[in-house]
Amino acid sequence: MNKLNGKIAIVTGAASGMSKSIAELYTAEGAAVMLADFNLEGAQAVAQELKDKGFKAEAIKVDVANSDDLNEMFKQTINAFGSYDILVNNAGVMDSFEPVGEVTDEN
Ligand SMILES: NC(=O)c1ccc[n+]([C@@H]2O[C@H](COP(=O)([O-])OP(=O)(O)OC[C@H]3O[C@@H](n4cnc5c(N)ncnc54)[C@H](O)[C@@H]3O)[C@@H](O)[C@H]2O)c1
Repeated sequence: MNKLNGKIAIVTGAASGMSKSIAELYTAEGAAVMLADFNLEGAQAVAQELKDKGFKAEAIKVDVANSDDLNEMFKQTINAFGSYDILVNNAGVMDSFEPVGEVTDEN
């Protein structure tokens, strides 16, 4: 039984790694997924793989550190799928595990 039939999810960082796997699982469970990543080419490739399997997926270039990008992400998700139900906010980087107060803007 598909657990996410009719649901719409936004998954950040979905060009690779755990978020890519989350997008694959969610679509297999019936969700439509907006794959948001600043690696647009990677996100588009994953979206195409999912579409080729008959799933609903779109890709958008988003830097999750940029609020304009985030507003656009929500707008484009509504344009593509009509709404959204789930946000998986998993984009990120493996850093050098310094305390959060010492993380540089570049990182
Ligand atoms: N892999 C692990 O064992 C592990 C363990 C604990 C926590 N984490 C954390 O989970 C998150 C995902 O890990 P992963 O291993 O899947 O990493 P990954 O590098 O495979 O994937 C991260 C994705 O996020 C995207 N991304 C990075 N910064 C972004 C930004 N500002 N805006 C939009 N997209 C951005 C990258 O392009 C990439 O596609 C990271 O934050 C990581 O620190 C990972």
